[in-house]
Amino acid sequence: MKKETRAVILAAGKGTRMVSEKPKVLHEIFSKPLLGWVVEAIQRLSTETQCIVVIGHGAESVDAYLNKNYKYVITTLQKEQLGTGHAVAQAVPLLSDFKGNVIITCGDTPLISTKTLKNLVKYHEDNNVDLTVLTAEMENPTGYGRIIRNIKDEVVKIVEEKDASDDQREINEVNAGVYCLNWVKLKKAFGDLENNNAQGEYYLTDIVKWARFNSYRVFGYKIKDNFEIFGINSRQNLAKAMEIMKNKHMDSLMTKGVTIVDPLTTYISPETQIGADTIIFPNTYIEGKNKIAKNCKIGPMARLRGGCDVGEGCKIGNFVELKNAKIAKNSNVCHLTYVGDAQIGSNVNVGAGTIFANYDSITKKKQKSIVRDGASIGSNSVIIAPVEIKEDAYVAALTGVAKNVESSSLVLSRSPQKEIKNWVKTKKENNK
Ligand code: UD1
Ligand code: CA
Repeated sequence: MKKETRAVILAAGKGTRMVSEKPKVLHEIFSKPLLGWVVEAIQRLSTETQCIVVIGHGAESVDAYLNKNYKYVITTLQKEQLGTGHAVAQAVPLLSDFKGNVIITCGDTPLISTKTLKNLVKYHEDNNVDLTVLTAEMENPTGYGRIIRNIKDEVVKIVEEKDASDDQREINEVNAGVYCLNWVKLKKAFGDLENNNAQGEYYLTDIVKWARFNSYRVFGYKIKDNFEIFGINSRQNLAKAMEIMKNKHMDSLMTKGVTIVDPLTTYISPETQIGADTIIFPNTYIEGKNKIAKNCKIGPMARLRGGCDVGEGCKIGNFVELKNAKIAKNSNVCHLTYVGDAQIGSNVNVGAGTIFANYDSITKKKQKSIVRDGASIGSNSVIIAPVEIKEDAYVAALTGVAKNVESSSLVLSRSPQKEIKNWVKTKKENNK
């Protein structure tokens, strides 16, 4: 990208069809709000790409989410939702001196890729365009604005479905709702928009007509993968977007040599990398950023919650939950176990039913445990953080480990087994 690029994300709409108290853009896929996926797609263009998010419905919570998570994002309030053009107008004062490209996109299209945005900007710059509209060829264009071209194949305007004639509705090329603008030239458009249309709204799409009228160059750039512009309006759409997102990622993992036994019941977030010859068994749910090395076996019914780094040749079995767990190679955590905020060495065996108690409910803080190479933890033990179990140590089954364990020691904390002979008989006799 030759020029500096900034982005405006429209996120003030209510999302009535979600039937929710939560603003639409805060609904989540793999525990990340829709808006987060969009912001991150933009920030991958360059970490310093400044985003301006137009907020309205649920402004306070959207603002709080962005503040907490993203450094280069600022927000601007659209008090009344008078249309997409009016929404962008709220960002104009924040960009008054800006001289580069502005990307405009929506906060409810979480599948948009950085690659597409990059291609859009590249196309815009290479062809010296003033306004590039991302378009898509849709089998069923219902609901979208239609792209109207003249006989020279130039984009002359966008007509919203509600304003379209029967002939225009037959057009399959639609407006994806993503644009790249030469800001110096186009910023004046927002003062000139009118709302004399079927919805009585200030349409962003009218900047096409405005740019043509002012003899600026307007081009359409057609997207290859239509699913990227899939917008979320309902819970059904939310489920569909999750399905598209996970399937696309799992498909690429399989191409890279990962076995996914049953893609239908497996969920792997696109932020998780997995090495070749690892097998993911059914009903496994992996979200957040994780790294799983090659030759591992994960699941069935395993859950990774992010921040995990699983080394080569590890086995993570059924009903095992991992969170912020760094596990070196050839270690086994095979059954019914919770590992949270822990570092586990290589060749470690974690017995069935082990719990890493990482939460200090007094300080309300998470504590970390360390298990060194070659250690073995017996079944049903509780590792009470912060604690360190050193190399080759043994933790006997049913032990609560609250103090560090030296290398090669055996540690056990259970009370000795006591047996009372004929207890049942005696009891019954006494009760007669
Ligand atoms: C818009 C486009 C349409 C395109 C479609 C692609 C217009 C007029 N139409 O239609 O051509 O095919 O997107 O998905 O732009 N928003 C605000 N403030 C407002 C109104 C909307 O922030 O006052 C936000 C919404 O929260 C949403 C986005 O803008 O994120 C799009 O608005 P929406 O009403 O969904 O537009 P569409 O009718 O889908
Ligand atoms: Ca609308």
